[in-house]
Amino acid sequence: MDKFVIHKSALRGSVSTSGSKNAALPIMAATLLTDDKCVLHNVPDLMDIRTMADILRVLGKKVIFEHGTMQVTAEKKGKYIAPYELVRTMRASFCAMGPLLAKQKKAKVSLPGGCVIGVRPVDLHIKGLEALGAKIKVDAGYCIGEGKDLKGKVIYLGGHFGSSVLATDNVMMAATLAKGETVIEYAACEPETEALGLFLKNMGAQISGEGTPIVRIRGVKSLGGCEFKIIPDRIEAGTFLAASLATRSPLTIKGANALHLTSVLETARKMGAKITIRDNDDMVVVPSKKLLPANITTLPYPGFPTDLQAQFMVALTMADGISMITEKIYPDRFMHIAEINRMGAGVQRSGPYSIVEGRDKLYGAQIKASDLRASAALVIAGLAAEGKTEVMRVYHIDRGYEKIEDKIRALGGKVTRAKE
Ligand code: UD1
Repeated sequence: MDKFVIHKSALRGSVSTSGSKNAALPIMAATLLTDDKCVLHNVPDLMDIRTMADILRVLGKKVIFEHGTMQVTAEKKGKYIAPYELVRTMRASFCAMGPLLAKQKKAKVSLPGGCVIGVRPVDLHIKGLEALGAKIKVDAGYCIGEGKDLKGKVIYLGGHFGSSVLATDNVMMAATLAKGETVIEYAACEPETEALGLFLKNMGAQISGEGTPIVRIRGVKSLGGCEFKIIPDRIEAGTFLAASLATRSPLTIKGANALHLTSVLETARKMGAKITIRDNDDMVVVPSKKLLPANITTLPYPGFPTDLQAQFMVALTMADGISMITEKIYPDRFMHIAEINRMGAGVQRSGPYSIVEGRDKLYGAQIKASDLRASAALVIAGLAAEGKTEVMRVYHIDRGYEKIEDKIRALGGKVTRAKE
């Protein structure tokens, strides 16, 4: 396994935002809804993207991925089984369920299983697909469905933690080929779900309200191919923003859509940063020398994203005062606390709440990454800490951050990859 060896660094300069992983994955799944060719641009080159490409191949597609452009065409007769070996590594692959039911009329997709950030059920996915008329059973770790006669329905998709991004995506995709009108109430409003809606409309789907809590889909007979550009990765941009704050380094983050980051920008400003937005997509960040504390509550979009909680927690460990972080999406997503406390941070957790007592400094240590976003947070901690930090198990970060070491090194960050 690889590790990162990191030394305290002052960062400077500008970094470009890659295409969004979380937008690209469901859109790749949506190509299963047609036999025509789909061309996706600005696709990030990541492990998760390659895994999804392999799932499409197993399901009968030919996928060519070069220089950020992905071409997906039907090669063999469409298959309907997405195996455990591929699905287990990545939850987004469960998004194949909706398109397979709609297009192949049957689906057998491995259940994604547990995850280190907490329990991650798929009950809302199943509820939505069953409401459309799919017959679904769970057997030997697989979700097996039959979708011969899908019919539009009014579906309330809210759950215990609010809306669900991938459940909304799954139901929206299945509904594009169902008879009549589907209305999803309490749909996810995330920009990635909105992007999926736009992609489906380019394929010929009749959808309105994508990106709002009420989405209407009028089923059509078939969908065709199209070309589409993946939106910028707001989580990657927010990660560099947190790095700028934690290391107190001025940075320009280019090509991010600032409108997708309003809650995050507001938090960064509360922490004392001066941020100027140029043409809606370049963010010029000048952090204050003294970081101010801030309270953060993670919520579905447009609230503060859970995928940036760990990175901002690291910055807050060096703020001048006490901050409180409330995790309202994944109450157990605090695996990073034990690691950053080993670096001298003062964070205490009780259930979904964490109290962050700001300290002057963090100190380098050997620490272990537990999941994708937590690993990014630990890398930020390493850049901000005195001395040398070793972040073990960085394979997590390779799942979701394109060329992360190159990007950090280009900003002057001292990061090298080595064998554990
Ligand atoms: C997506 C993102 C992930 C992000 C998450 C929340 C992708 C590929 N992944 O994951 O990075 O952290 O949104 O913004 O886009 N829930 C249920 N039942 C379900 C489904 C979800 O109770 O059937 C719960 C979850 O446990 C969680 C909450 O709903 O508490 C939101 O999860 P959800 O939006 O579904 O996350 P994902 O779509 O899996």
